[in-house]
Amino acid sequence: MNSKILKSGHIKLYKRENSKFWQMKIKLPKLKAIRSSTGSKILKDAETIALKYYNSISSKTKININRTSNIFKKIHLVETADLTKKEILHILNESKKYISFNKRKVKKINILEGRTIFNLFFEDSTRTRTSFEVAAKRLGADLINVVVKDSSINKGETLLDTMTTINSMNPDVLIVRHPEEGISKRISETVDASVINAGDGSHEHPTQALLDALTIKNKFNNFAKLKIAICGDILHSRVARSNIIILSKLGAKINVIGPKEWLPKNINKLPVNVFTDMRKGLKNCDIVMMLRIQKERIVGKIMPNQKTYFKKYGLDYNKLKYAKKNAFVMHPGPMNRGVEIDSTLADDITRSLIQEQVAMGVAVRMACLDLIIKNRDIRVYN
Ligand code: CP
Repeated sequence: MNSKILKSGHIKLYKRENSKFWQMKIKLPKLKAIRSSTGSKILKDAETIALKYYNSISSKTKININRTSNIFKKIHLVETADLTKKEILHILNESKKYISFNKRKVKKINILEGRTIFNLFFEDSTRTRTSFEVAAKRLGADLINVVVKDSSINKGETLLDTMTTINSMNPDVLIVRHPEEGISKRISETVDASVINAGDGSHEHPTQALLDALTIKNKFNNFAKLKIAICGDILHSRVARSNIIILSKLGAKINVIGPKEWLPKNINKLPVNVFTDMRKGLKNCDIVMMLRIQKERIVGKIMPNQKTYFKKYGLDYNKLKYAKKNAFVMHPGPMNRGVEIDSTLADDITRSLIQEQVAMGVAVRMACLDLIIKNRDIRVYN
């Protein structure tokens, strides 16, 4: 058998004794080998064909880690109110490259190698905490999960003392979830590290709204003609607040729907139309975003009966008919099946984007970590 190696072993050209044509085997790092005929009997022509094929697949699989424009320059992500439309779109575009990356067999690049990130979650979490961990590790960073229930907070240390202590270990990013509204901003004003707000009380959850926007962008591309309903416990929901800000900045029209007692007093100051009736509020909506009842924030007040609530505000196939014919359903999770959403509808992949939201969470968080750390490098190390 004749053979020739090109591109440091990434391309092998070979011709078996019983074959007329040169065959090519192309192996890109961390990808399966591709074997095919060059269709050429002449080695020189086969080389040209194989090189052209190699260049084409390597450009498609290469992640462009060099940002061409520096639109998002911030070193913290604590409030969506701080973000311009251009910055939001830039983060979404940066996130897109990680969607295909996250479907690869080997999901690891080392662009954040040697960087230290802390997960500091003072409230329960499944999606946000784990997806930040997955995102950081896929980018090659070291992520430390602080087990808050075993921390010195229990011995009377203040939150800001804990943050200052961790800051002395020279981390790059602190990811903070805490029940106190505005605490991420305060921490960002105290420490040198970058701070990402992973949910502060009923205030904001910026990466959730960004991942929701990315999920919607994947389906509709343009936000300008979209009508999105956000339904349920609006008053206590940081997800609702961040989504109202981000989606309206992107040009979508927002209807909020919920019981009167769960609509914030200042709701009319937000760029939304307000409804207490699902039939009216869902009319002509392209997306129906359901919210969990935030039981942990409804203290000292009477909780509604779950069956009565579901009848009036829970989303099922019947209520979904009030929206557009092929409207999609979203929920940030964790969801209470049979309380705010019908279980079968939540699992119906023709209508529900709930699992897609989780997948987009990893992509968005990879982009946020990458952008914030690079912005910090420019300020701290240049
Ligand atoms: N959506 C969301 O924040 O989920 P977790 O509470 O599981 O992080």
